[in-house]
Amino acid sequence: MTLRSVIKGTGSALPARRVDNAELAARVDTSDEWIVARTGIRSRYIAGEGETTATLAVDACRKALEAAGLQPADIGLIVLATATPDQTFPASATKVQAMLGIDDCIAFDVAAVCTGFLYALSVADSMLRCGSAKRALVIGSETFSRILDWEDRTTCVLFGDGAGALVLEAEDGDSGILATRLHADGRHSCLLYVDGGPSTTGTVGKLRMKGPEVFRHAVVNLAKVLGEVLDDIGLSAADVDWVVPHQANARILDATAKKLGLPPEKVIVTVDRHANTSAASVPLALDVAVRDGRIKRGELIVLEAMGGGFTWGAAALRY
Ligand code: ACO
Repeated sequence: MTLRSVIKGTGSALPARRVDNAELAARVDTSDEWIVARTGIRSRYIAGEGETTATLAVDACRKALEAAGLQPADIGLIVLATATPDQTFPASATKVQAMLGIDDCIAFDVAAVCTGFLYALSVADSMLRCGSAKRALVIGSETFSRILDWEDRTTCVLFGDGAGALVLEAEDGDSGILATRLHADGRHSCLLYVDGGPSTTGTVGKLRMKGPEVFRHAVVNLAKVLGEVLDDIGLSAADVDWVVPHQANARILDATAKKLGLPPEKVIVTVDRHANTSAASVPLALDVAVRDGRIKRGELIVLEAMGGGFTWGAAALRY
């Protein structure tokens, strides 16, 4: 038998306010037609007063714990992926820990932007299999609306806020995370970044992106890393039941699936409703597809993401 990290429950949370493309078109020079045709996005959720990365994460965690039939005290590790923490420090994971009422556990944040959840999942999986803890909450939570330049139509239409969480438990068996692959190439940091930070400008900064360049790298890197993770487990695209991709742009999802020879009906798509929620997008989409009954126990799922850095990665798991 092999010790593996098994998904015991999933949860997600969205801010109360939904913003459709028409509302954005009243604010910047854009249109519903342009946004839908170029990105597939129809709406996004935007955090309001009192809604933060940590509060959204807590809502998602409570639902994941309920789905797993567990209590906060059962958790020994919290790994929170975010590029929009509540504060520079302490880690938002420790705020989540306190809000869940967990007195003592390991808790830290991981920053790999849109790939953050894949990095968090891989770290948590390694720590569970090493025996650092028995159960983990792995979270992606973001409030990107707060680092957007709302005058820049080339970026502000693309992103939204939200959170997704998984409860992982170390168990002997055939189910669980089978392989993860992570990459980074910092030479491309100028294509997608935030123009501020505590050690440089002393400000939070705003998101800047060269969208078409990011697009080209995304399709190549994502198809490659999905191939790598399938090679690691000795399976092919034909064995995959569901792909849960990072939800950046419907055209990236289509192009990546095509490159791998995966039929579009095997790809979970939420970008139309949620837009790009960065580190939250993969666990949010996974939770949607688990709760609507598409993803079932025993199925082979692959997750993938790419983001600022560049960073990119993939995971294969038996749900
Ligand atoms: N509304 C109307 N027109 C717009 C808008 C807008 N919101 N934004 C840009 N345009 C205009 C441009 O100004 C340009 O006009 P011009 O031809 O007169 O100069 C025209 O539309 C075409 O612009 P492009 O940038 O070439 O459009 P493209 O088809 O490449 O789509 C997009 C842009 C959607 C950003 C695309 O490149 C993309 O999705 N890239 C990936 C970026 C991404 O998702 N990053 C997130 C993190 S990384 C990741 O998750 C993979």
